[in-house]
Amino acid sequence: MKFASTLAAALSLASTATALNILMSNDDGFGSGNLRELYKLLKAAGHDVLIVAPATQQSGQGGRSEFSTDANLTSPGQYDIVPAGAPAVGTDPNDSSIWYYNGTPAACVFVALDYVLPRHYPGWTPDLALAGPNYGANLGAFVYSLSGTLGVAYAAVSRSVPAIALSASNSAVAYFNVTNSTHPAALAAKASYAVVDQFINATAQGSAVLPLGYGVNVNIPELSVGTLPPVVKSRLTGEAETDAAVYDEDKKTFTWGNVRPLAAGVNACYNGDCSLPGETYVLANGGISVSVFTIDYDAPSVPYTEMVFAKVGNLFSAGSGSNETEGYQTKPASKKRMMTGRDVYRM
Ligand SMILES: *[C@@H]1O[C@H](CO)[C@@H](O)[C@H](O)[C@H]1NC(C)=O
Ligand SMILES: *[C@@H]1O[C@H](CO)[C@@H](O)[C@H](O)[C@H]1NC(C)=O
Ligand SMILES: *[C@@H]1O[C@H](CO)[C@@H](O)[C@H](O)[C@H]1NC(C)=O
Ligand SMILES: *[C@@H]1O[C@H](CO)[C@@H](O)[C@H](O)[C@H]1NC(C)=O
Ligand SMILES: *[C@@H]1O[C@H](CO)[C@@H](O)[C@H](O)[C@H]1NC(C)=O
Ligand SMILES: *[C@@H]1O[C@H](CO)[C@@H](O)[C@H](O)[C@H]1NC(C)=O
Repeated sequence: MKFASTLAAALSLASTATALNILMSNDDGFGSGNLRELYKLLKAAGHDVLIVAPATQQSGQGGRSEFSTDANLTSPGQYDIVPAGAPAVGTDPNDSSIWYYNGTPAACVFVALDYVLPRHYPGWTPDLALAGPNYGANLGAFVYSLSGTLGVAYAAVSRSVPAIALSASNSAVAYFNVTNSTHPAALAAKASYAVVDQFINATAQGSAVLPLGYGVNVNIPELSVGTLPPVVKSRLTGEAETDAAVYDEDKKTFTWGNVRPLAAGVNACYNGDCSLPGETYVLANGGISVSVFTIDYDAPSVPYTEMVFAKVGNLFSAGSGSNETEGYQTKPASKKRMMTGRDVYRM
């Protein structure tokens, strides 16, 4: 009885040449309709797909890596898919390839790579990590830093796994409420799949989907049935938003707003092709944006960068490799781990 729909799926998805190991996560939670719809499409295309996604909604966490301090869930997982008291890391009772973890999106990536895969799928290494599709677009460099969807992507890239962040423009929906192929979540998954499949199709068997340290940010506008919007080569900067603190005089509290006029700082272009349209502009005009980022946040080697270094040039001036200045001598290099800001809060 399933034959007709399976055949239809096989025909429409037949072009995928290579079956990949794909690790999926998101920030909206493991019960997300968007996530599960894309999962279904990828599996129907023959890929080996695992989800390790947050047990609950974790939007706005960026790259924050926060692990559960409890071995078990202290409250039920999203949509009561798993009850309170269940292990903090486990599977959907209806699908053992769908894992949840009670942590932030980036933490889910690390738990996937360092716990779920080695213990439960030995030898299975992801060829590609996919984040989302998110509910709502994630546009520009400021949102890049606070989006958990992007956090999944750059956590994976930092662990040498090529990653694509996918963000759509539909509202939240539980996976069990996506009941037909024209639901906005199904359309978001279909548009995501169209882009992801191109990346996979254009990758020769055995070679990496993206170069080391590279990730891709895909944003999808509101969709209508039967049409894939134009896919546009874009960049993160360009008409991008950043936050203003908006004060409510009555409540004496703040909320966020968009800066007007657009802030120049978040739109300064130094890397990549500055003639490309910004992804914010592309979405506003109904296109699907495809931006490429690298994990290397260093400023490019241009005169401005040298000008910045030159300001502290006298500190460098005793010659690189010098280890003392007036009244100060660096400790000899030691194997001792350096203390970081994160350790301060852990103490
Ligand atoms: C977690 O739950 C298991 C049973 O599922 C129980 O054996 C264990 O004691 C619990 N651990 C904690 C810390 O509550
Ligand atoms: C999960 O499986 C159970 C038992 O097969 C079923 O009753 C339930 O409807 C399923 N839940 C979902 C959301 O698919
Ligand atoms: C699922 O759909 C039903 C019926 O429209 C609605 O009452 C319910 O709130 C939805 N559940 C979730 C978790 O979205
Ligand atoms: C599909 O689902 C959407 C959203 O729930 C609904 O608006 C639409 O009427 C449904 N279409 C069909 C053909 O059932
Ligand atoms: C991409 O798909 C086309 C058919 O749709 C196929 O001819 C081609 O070989 C594929 N490319 C790769 C690299 O698999
Ligand atoms: C750095 O310090 C060590 C030990 O104090 C010293 O032997 C060495 O000459 C110093 N190197 C430079 C470049 O000043």
